[in-house]
Formats: sequence, C-alpha cells, structure tokens
Amino acid sequence: MQNPKLTAITMSAKDTIFSDPQGKIKEFEFDQQVVEVFPDMIERSVPSYKTIIQGISEIAQKFVQLDSNIYDLGCSLGAASFAIRQKLQEPSCQIIAVDNSPAMVERCRLIQASYNFDMPVEVLESDITQLEMNNASLVVLNFTLQFLPVTKRQTLLNRIYQALNPGGALVVSEKLQMDQPEFDELIISLHHDFKKRNGYSDMEIAQKRAALENVLIPDNQQTHFERFKQAGFAQYDSWFQHYNFASFLVVK
Ligand SMILES: C[S@@+](CC[C@H](N)C(=O)[O-])C[C@H]1O[C@@H](n2cnc3c(N)ncnc32)[C@H](O)[C@@H]1O
Repeated sequence: MQNPKLTAITMSAKDTIFSDPQGKIKEFEFDQQVVEVFPDMIERSVPSYKTIIQGISEIAQKFVQLDSNIYDLGCSLGAASFAIRQKLQEPSCQIIAVDNSPAMVERCRLIQASYNFDMPVEVLESDITQLEMNNASLVVLNFTLQFLPVTKRQTLLNRIYQALNPGGALVVSEKLQMDQPEFDELIISLHHDFKKRNGYSDMEIAQKRAALENVLIPDNQQTHFERFKQAGFAQYDSWFQHYNFASFLVVK
C-alpha cells in the first residue's frame, strides 16, 4: 500500500519542461524550473522510484547504528531522508542531506521542516565531492553518482568508505549502461515505452535525452563493482533493478 506521507512529498506540478519544441537544447540543470516539477518528473521517468525510496528506508532499518550519521548525497527534495526519518524515529542519529543546487536545497529545507520526526535532519548546500563525512552508518547516493564527472566518482567512493563505520552501508542507485550495444538499445526502448505510458510524448523524451546527453553519464554494472572493490568494500550486489535502473547495496 502507498505510504500517504511519502505520497505528499512526491506530488508536484506536472512536468512539461520539454513539451514544446526547443530550437537549441540547453544542458539539463537542477534549477528552480526543475524543482517545481521534480516529484512528477522523477516518478514518471525513473521506473519504480517510490519502491526504491521505500527499499532504502528498509535497508536503513538494518544498517543504521545508534549515535551515528546518515548521509543523503545529492538529496534533491530529500525523499530518501524523509522515508528514513519516518521509518526509524531514532533521535540519537542525524541525517545530513546534501545538494549543490540552491533551489533544491531551499525547497528540501521547507519540506523537511514541515514534518515532526524524532530523527533530526540538516540540509546542506554543498558539493558532495568536497564534503567532510564521519561516523556514518548509512550513505545514500540515489541517482546522484551518474551526475558527477566520471573522474571524481572513485575518489568520492573512497571517501565514503573512510567515513563509514565497520558494518555500515552505502546504497547507490544508478541508470546503467548495458554491456552489449544492441541490448542497451532494447532496454532503453523499454524505458522509453514506460515514459510514453506515463504521458511523455516522443518529442519530450527525445529533447530530455539530448539535454541529459553530457550531464548524466551512465556506467555499466562492472564499472560500479570495480569501484566498490577498489574503495575497499567487502560485499556488494544489486538489490533492485527495473529496466536499466538499478540500485546496489554496498557493505563495509
Ligand atoms: C537525480 S537527482 C537525485 C534524486 C534524489 N537523490 C532522490 O532520491 O530523490 C540528482 C541530484 O544530485 C545533485 N547533485 C549533482 N551533482 C552534485 C554535487 N557535486 N554535489 C551535490 N549535489 C549534486 C543535483 O543537484 C540533484 O539534485
């Protein structure tokens, strides 16, 4: 059954950003225009987004340690933070939700402040590649790593490993590139069919794809696994996949 509070945080104006023909497509940005439609955009674009958010809160129940920090990196409006706070109700822990988009951070602060949960949350405007982290029992990168420059991804994972306590966990959700090009095209077409069923036109899908071309750079599963291993993680595997959208559970 759908969680009513989580539904409230995931409702917004309808995403029509790419519904008119755009002469020159500008690069996708997490700006005010995106903030206004973000819950609708992510729900209609990322298969099983709400299931993944719910799953992250269930994983949190297994890994969060008393008196520790939980980091939600690239938090956007804080859906993962919200779901964890709602499920755990643990005042000795603190969530640090971080995003470098001023518009996202401003809206995220408003949303988080409007609910009374036992677990405090601090929403920081910061570049996650520069963030100091410590005493972490859970770190969440829910569809964020794919937006970092490829050259900065390993360093961030190394720093997360250092910040995690023994037995702590990292959740990494990403759009994946499939290894075989023809298979990749097939899965991409299944994803586009999903977006069409959710009301996006072919033109909207094509224009958004062009806007994301140099902004969202997907890796394949093997690249993710090699990075986890290189960072020092002992255990990692996929706990969820729908088309080319996967989420990995990575344990220190
Ligand atoms: C797809 S959204 C993440 C969705 C969100 N985690 C959720 O579960 O709803 C990606 C977010 O990462 C943020 N982001 C991208 N690069 C970042 C960086 N270097 N530092 C902090 N945030 C970043 C963007 O501003 C955007 O809000």
